[in-house]
Amino acid sequence: MDDADPLAGLRDRFTLPDGLIYLDGNSLGALPAAVAPRLAGVVGHEWGQRLIRSWNEAAWFTAPGRVAAAVARLIGADADEVAVADSTSVNLFKILIAGARMRPGRGTLIMHAGDFPTDVYIGSSAAELAGLRLRFVDSPAQAPAAIDDDTALVAMSHVDFRTGELADVTAITEAAHSAGALVCWDLSHSAGALDLDLHAVAADLAVGCGYKYLNGGPGAPGYAMVARRHHDALITPLPGWIGHADPFAMSPRYAPAAGVARLAAGTPPMLSLLAMESSLSALDGVSPQALRTKAAALTSYFVELVDALPAARRGELTVASPRDPARRGAQVSLRHEQAYGLVRALIEREVIGDFRTPDLARFGFAPAYLRFADVWDAVTIIADVLDGGAHRDPRFAVRAGVT
Ligand SMILES: Cc1ncc(COP(=O)(O)O)c(C=O)c1O
Repeated sequence: MDDADPLAGLRDRFTLPDGLIYLDGNSLGALPAAVAPRLAGVVGHEWGQRLIRSWNEAAWFTAPGRVAAAVARLIGADADEVAVADSTSVNLFKILIAGARMRPGRGTLIMHAGDFPTDVYIGSSAAELAGLRLRFVDSPAQAPAAIDDDTALVAMSHVDFRTGELADVTAITEAAHSAGALVCWDLSHSAGALDLDLHAVAADLAVGCGYKYLNGGPGAPGYAMVARRHHDALITPLPGWIGHADPFAMSPRYAPAAGVARLAAGTPPMLSLLAMESSLSALDGVSPQALRTKAAALTSYFVELVDALPAARRGELTVASPRDPARRGAQVSLRHEQAYGLVRALIEREVIGDFRTPDLARFGFAPAYLRFADVWDAVTIIADVLDGGAHRDPRFAVRAGVT
């Protein structure tokens, strides 16, 4: 399968420790080989030697636009519909308040109660500040029935962070549009691994992370997408000077920059942003469709191998993700009563996944750098750990700060 993989060569664009099976690219993507030399140059020369001149000379000031163009290609948007800035949480806040302002007179924000916690927290605050009632649905599938002519906005993640289940973007967007509402998608677990095409689904708004399948590095900037047809009505609740039409006019009055550029609030985190610019070059020439196809093949192979374990070895381990690859993102979660111990024991065996409370061992299959052989090895080691009982080690009774 690796020999037949058209993306096999991409792994060389990444730096991965020998012998490590990295199944956590859905939390923190691997380090692209181009990043370290670029950052060394940025720090040593552009910052160290050229100092403030680099904002112009090294084109720092225009870096957000370049990174936005690279992200836009991967989510089916145009470069001038995407802003790269801040964290996903902050972008979500800006977009939810802006979205609510685009639908005056409507009183409801609909969200998925089991969405990623930051989405729920930020959604609650944005709803309160915008004077909206927050209505939770128990699953994205319930959203279309909950939408009515009081709905201003629907905001949810494309991929369920626990199970990897995909929301039906088309059905939810159509239901929202036919009621006159807008939808905001959180694409944190989609961009760089799946092929959601925002134009094809007539999406309104979206946000997402830079450090997962986009490999931008820990705390990399996030992004926000606003469809061009909404630009005239776009009002950010954080009108900072970098989002001003002319920041160096130093005007006492705010005038928004054109389009999504107004979503920038303060000075961009230049080291992170330039790291992300080089990290995205690792996906140059790779289509979202090719990434999606390989992610589906990797996750299907993982499910197949777990299913093939003899019942006595598999014990109580079950697949918690949808079995149909069309309904699944680039991750597979396994349910086990001692999932935390299992994840910790696997990490000690150089198989890195993560744990999501209360009982999920979560494995991400980044299509850009994983091999089918890694999937085979990972399942062999999972079976070994379960056989030997390493997951029951009392050391794992205490949870680390980051799980
Ligand atoms: C779906 C989703 N949204 C938002 C976030 C958080 O984004 P940030 O911490 O960068 O604001 C995460 C982080 O894992 C996530 O999975």
